Amino acid sequence: MLKEYCADRVVIVDQALKDAVAENGFPPVIYEAMRYSLLSGGKRLRPILLMAAAEAVGGKGDNYLDVACGLEMIHTYSLIHDDLPAMDNDDYRRGRLTNHKVYGEGMAVLAGDGLLTAAFEIMLGQPGVEPAVLLKVVREIAQAAGPGGMVGGQALDLASEGREVDADILRRMHEGKTGALFKAALRAGALLAGGSEAQVNNLTEYGEYFGLAFQITDDILDITGSQEVIGKPVGSDVKNQKATYVTMYGLEGANVMAREAVDRALTALKDFGPEADVLRELAMYLLTRNS
Ligand code: IPE
Ligand code: IPE
Ligand code: MG
Ligand code: MG
Ligand code: MG
Repeated sequence: MLKEYCADRVVIVDQALKDAVAENGFPPVIYEAMRYSLLSGGKRLRPILLMAAAEAVGGKGDNYLDVACGLEMIHTYSLIHDDLPAMDNDDYRRGRLTNHKVYGEGMAVLAGDGLLTAAFEIMLGQPGVEPAVLLKVVREIAQAAGPGGMVGGQALDLASEGREVDADILRRMHEGKTGALFKAALRAGALLAGGSEAQVNNLTEYGEYFGLAFQITDDILDITGSQEVIGKPVGSDVKNQKATYVTMYGLEGANVMAREAVDRALTALKDFGPEADVLRELAMYLLTRNS
């Protein structure tokens, strides 16, 4: 069921993303570079989670496609910059050459900048939502993407290269670089669809544990994955002497912690009925994912 649900959603999201960046402005190369990374596959998990959260509170997920697309554009920008030589220096992403390998480093920086700024333009054009609610959601997404969230987590990640970090720093790094956008996706879906305070709080907690489990399993796949399936190089973290859940707790320890985080994500859904089954399945999928 999850497979079909996600396949359906990916088609809808991919089409909306295509439309969002269809116009060629001047110079065309920047639009081409943005499309190259945005329309190159990707699991589209953040938009899917936004839609599933809206459905968990009784809404309709595809009513919020503009905000969902904005999240994916921010995520894609973060990947383009993450792969740059100044950061993780990786050559493959989503099964193809990284943006800077094709367009050069300067253009890749700009493609990221373009996606980030265009994301806010698109999100603020989301129809069918009370302006006050939309402003609150977009502001939260800005906070999640910025220095208090993803950018801050990436800064911790860079600053920790080649160093011993303690468990608290590692957790904060993961919460920032990965957890913040996942949490924002869940909150956005719940808030846009008019969820109650209790529902929003429960989905927030789910998002936090989902994000943690996601990055732990990303760290595991950096060791145990295959490049053909994950679409990016294996061993990138080792190459860059990154602090990860695997370096801190070992493979088995990291697996145990991923399971614990998934359990907590599931517990956060205990007050929901079958309308949250997709979210339950998505959390469980993290424990078996190979990409
Ligand atoms: C990769 O994210 C970067 C991390 C936050 C670990 P995804 O694994 O969601 O990447 P795509 O979007 O499917 O390519
Ligand atoms: C980066 O984490 C998370 C981002 C904000 C892009 P990683 O550096 O582990 O992501 P991958 O493994 O390159 O996708
Ligand atoms: Mg990185
Ligand atoms: Mg990386
Ligand atoms: Mg990784």
